[in-house]
Amino acid sequence: MVDLGKIPPTIWWEDGTVRMIDQSRLPLVGDLLVCNGYEGVCSAIAGMAVRGAPALGVAAALAVALWSETAGAAITDLRYYLGELDRVADEIAATRPTAVNLMWGAERMKRFARDNADAGLDALRPLVLEEALRVRAEDEERNRALGAHGAALIEPGSRILTHCNAGSLATAYFGTALGVIFTAHAEGKIAQVWVDETRPVLQGARLTAWELRMAGVPFRLICDNMAASIMRSGWVDAVIVGADRIAANGDVANKIGTYGLAVLCKEHGIPFYVAAPSSTVDLTLASGDEIVIEERDPREVTGFTVSGVIEPRTSIETKALDALTEAGPYSLGMTKGHQMELTRKGGAYQFDAWVRIAPPNVEVYNPAFDVTPAAYVTAIITEQGVARAPYGESLAEACCGTGALHELG
Ligand code: MRU
Repeated sequence: MVDLGKIPPTIWWEDGTVRMIDQSRLPLVGDLLVCNGYEGVCSAIAGMAVRGAPALGVAAALAVALWSETAGAAITDLRYYLGELDRVADEIAATRPTAVNLMWGAERMKRFARDNADAGLDALRPLVLEEALRVRAEDEERNRALGAHGAALIEPGSRILTHCNAGSLATAYFGTALGVIFTAHAEGKIAQVWVDETRPVLQGARLTAWELRMAGVPFRLICDNMAASIMRSGWVDAVIVGADRIAANGDVANKIGTYGLAVLCKEHGIPFYVAAPSSTVDLTLASGDEIVIEERDPREVTGFTVSGVIEPRTSIETKALDALTEAGPYSLGMTKGHQMELTRKGGAYQFDAWVRIAPPNVEVYNPAFDVTPAAYVTAIITEQGVARAPYGESLAEACCGTGALHELG
């Protein structure tokens, strides 16, 4: 077992609400978001307060349960309840397009409600909540199993490179790619982790670096464009990444920049591992060409978003901040399109800023993910075992097979 004691849970159910740590501002601001309605969870997904494929699956399931316990609680007709649950689940599933876990979580809740409708509406509602809690608990169990399978592939003294955040924060708990690293670290096998910063949203610099620091795993942060040179120097023994969707033939969609790393691995003879639970495998898609790639706000590329807490040092500063934030969030007037908003939270003052780095009105292309062809993937580590080419067979076995723990394929 690995003790990740200092890493908080990602998303959970408490007092009839869905709660999560707002990842859009981590690590410098760690706000707790409390969602009283499923719409709040939808906004959190769209705004990346919760992100990472497995965590999105859990968020979808909890959001459906939240609807069932709030708006759904007023419904007295079973057929109407089921129809509304389907509609809400579809709305949740449509908040982001690439990570299949999101659709998987929503679909699982729809199917569960239909399959248990015979219980009657009063009995069904608590069952729906129980099912969502089960989705969350199973995710952590899967990650821990996946971590053990992956760690068996890691040689002692390894220097591992990872991209984006496939850590505890990207799941209910423990992580996928980082789950492998945490487990291998507990076994004394990790010399160092190279952390790609992961432009444009910087999940590597903000989240992976934070998690590794909390877990006491030695790491060095690099800009994405440094990976090639580090590999050429012979300083990387393996690359491990997560996945947002894996097609039936083993093509892998993951954070933009992953494909480039896989090509570099082939060139330098470095194993390229993908760590993902079976809920990330989409056997309905023959190849990665069918995966919808999300395009995000151009402002992620033309500037940086930063948040922080202001600590007034004098009573004059406190008075000024109080005056500015008295009536709610205060937007400062700034030139060149930079933006900064001040907010008072309890006794603290927070700033959220977007700082422009490119000239105004530039054309931007901002795909959030890319597809790595299966030919570049050394192995796909799932909770069922390690799948290898030909992936058509090994992934089908991992997702629909006996569940026996062994080398698949
Ligand atoms: O845009 P994000 O932050 O949701 O993207 C996350 C990734 O690409 C992760 O690598 C992937 O979801 C796997 S997380 C275990």
